[in-house]
Amino acid sequence: MTDLPKVELHLHLEGAAPPAFIRGLAKEKKADIGGIFDERGNYKYKDFWDFLKVYEAATSVLTSPEDYARLTLAVLEESAASGVVYSETFLSPDFCGGRDVGAWREYLHAMREAADRAERDMGITLRGIITCIRHFGPDKARETALCAAETAGDWIVGFGIAGDEKVGKPRDYLWSFDCAREAGLRLTAHAGEWGGPDSVRDAVRDLGVERIGHGVRAIEDLALVDELAEKGIVLEVCPGSNIALGIYPGWRQHPIGELHRRGVRVTISTDDPPFFHTTMAREYDRLNAAFDWDEGVFDGIARTSLDAAFCDGDTRERIRKKLEARNA
Ligand code: ADE
Ligand code: ZN
Repeated sequence: MTDLPKVELHLHLEGAAPPAFIRGLAKEKKADIGGIFDERGNYKYKDFWDFLKVYEAATSVLTSPEDYARLTLAVLEESAASGVVYSETFLSPDFCGGRDVGAWREYLHAMREAADRAERDMGITLRGIITCIRHFGPDKARETALCAAETAGDWIVGFGIAGDEKVGKPRDYLWSFDCAREAGLRLTAHAGEWGGPDSVRDAVRDLGVERIGHGVRAIEDLALVDELAEKGIVLEVCPGSNIALGIYPGWRQHPIGELHRRGVRVTISTDDPPFFHTTMAREYDRLNAAFDWDEGVFDGIARTSLDAAFCDGDTRERIRKKLEARNA
């Protein structure tokens, strides 16, 4: 399934860093983060909360705009090799200059330049979604939202929230979401990964988001599933991530099949691919094996993803031609 053109909507840039890339930077900077790797050199963590700690330790060696430029190129190379033609990535001013707007602009400039280069060389298009981090609390989220509002435009196209879903409630972050909305940014929120169906309901109703990161636990409440289908809310589903983190025991037990059957607009992403030993091509292969989805189903999902992308109309039509070229 590598050849199928793919659209990815849910990818954390730091979470997509190959472990060898992070090890190389740590060595250059003489930073001691050895404990986060296993004997084979992969990231090592016990559960989701430990994963968040390992994620932040790995991110601690990314300390300059140049590091983020190199990271952007490394990540886009991996995505392009899986057939991804358009990607949206979560970016956190928390990690890029400590939420200082001036510093954040420098990081952003470096990432955009790297993305432009990747687009020329590999034909993959990238856009950014700024995310606040839930367990850093609402005050820091406000500063993050101000960075987002200052840099909203044709490249920073969205705003969201990631991190530990068990901390606080979506409405605690309403000021930040309103700030981003007023700046013209489109909205998504992680919910229904570690929280149950109510967390999805809260994110939709209290924050007014049009997409949900994960959202899969909506399946535990079929009235909510119907509501999501009726409202056309898009789920950024990351099956390999959910399975690696133990939310579902295997691919056939993953609810993406039933959500799709019930008319919910589902899309497919990798979340933090090296942490979960996955790629977009692998997600497609596993879904093909688990649900017998053929190219027609994947083509429909790629179109849903592109329709739900936060980019401008010209970009969308340019990417649409790439999806259609395959089926011509
Ligand atoms: N940050 C990176 N990956 C995440 C995930 N799967 N859930 C919440 N926050 C994250
Ligand atoms: Zn995520």
